[in-house]
Amino acid sequence: MTNNSALMKNVIVIYYSNKGSNKYLAKKISARLSCDIEEIKPRMNIFLLFLMNVHLGIKPLKHNIEEYDTVILCGPIWMGKLIPPLRSFVEKYFNKINKLIFVTCCGSTDAKKDEKYGHGLVFNEVTNILKDRCILCQAFPVGLVLPDDKKEDTDAFMKTHLNDENFKGEIQERFDTFIRKVLNKAS
Ligand SMILES: Cc1cc2nc3c(=O)[nH]c(=O)nc-3n(C[C@H](O)[C@H](O)[C@H](O)COP(=O)(O)O)c2cc1C
Repeated sequence: MTNNSALMKNVIVIYYSNKGSNKYLAKKISARLSCDIEEIKPRMNIFLLFLMNVHLGIKPLKHNIEEYDTVILCGPIWMGKLIPPLRSFVEKYFNKINKLIFVTCCGSTDAKKDEKYGHGLVFNEVTNILKDRCILCQAFPVGLVLPDDKKEDTDAFMKTHLNDENFKGEIQERFDTFIRKVLNKAS
């Protein structure tokens, strides 16, 4: 890992998180890659209004997105959709994004990714917007940190948030594989 800093100078992690799991994941990615990180701040951060599709956009970012070769965009999935803060980021910075990697800590499992609320639908949305500038999509379903009998239990995954205690085993392996892919694609 010693060369990561040099390799990842041109990568930035941009994230939005409501309950903390995507913030945790975004910080872990940025720490591992020794790259910049910035939080998306909606102009209005009222979750219920988001769900009603009322959204006033996001505050300008401090970093100049154009300067980065690769943006790693990280955030949750709600109702099988690219959520408003992430969509606003992609739309607002559309002409400044060179390459984008989309990452989510979500509820849907790999087996259900293409069902109504699956993360696969959001991967398709992002890819449709950015076309071949979207170079990788990666999901970290919360179920990865749950016991086998709870992996598909909606109540259990809604109450579970990533932290240093539960980020081990399957999710840690997936994370390490993801970092290797990023190093290959973004270097
Ligand atoms: C209102 C709501 C709707 C959600 N809808 C979906 C969904 O359609 N698909 C999915 O995979 N996860 C869904 N989830 C689960 C979140 O994506 C998951 O809990 C995520 O880890 C939350 O991230 P955060 O802690 O960074 O806010 C939903 C969560 C909430 C609160």
